Amino acid sequence: MTRRIVLALACAAVAAAALPAVGETLSGAELFTRADKGHCAACHEVASAAPSARRSDVGPKLGGARMRALGRERLRALLTDPMASNPETLMPPYGRHRILDAAEIERVIDYLYALP
Ligand code: HEC
Repeated sequence: MTRRIVLALACAAVAAAALPAVGETLSGAELFTRADKGHCAACHEVASAAPSARRSDVGPKLGGARMRALGRERLRALLTDPMASNPETLMPPYGRHRILDAAEIERVIDYLYALP
């Protein structure tokens, strides 16, 4: 009996770990890397990352100086709908398709601004 309860709890823990908890607040870095959120890291490398065998060069490498030069307003527009400035882009329209909500987009921008 106890073994069954332990097994049920273990299964519940595995299921809970696989899904973002309701109302969970993810950091900009988590939003950037997580496959169930921005998954920006699938296409972009960041200046700070250690060299890796995996190449994420569909989009340009992202660095803080360039992000701050673009500015929050431009980044917000880009993350909301990159097709507005480039209809051919491969980058997903995070805001328009509600992949990220407005607060999440702001946290991703904070993360981009803080890149080296
Ligand atoms: C499927 C690939 C893909 C994904 C996923 C992706 N991007 Fe992009 N991104 C691109 C491409 C390609 C460009 C180049 C510009 C264009 O296509 O118009 C770009 C451009 C950018 C730029 C402008 C860079 C510059 O120097 O002008 C920023 C900033 C950016 N992406 C941030 C993000 C963030 C943040 C995410 C995740 C929330 C993300 N991207 C997800 C492909 C992607």
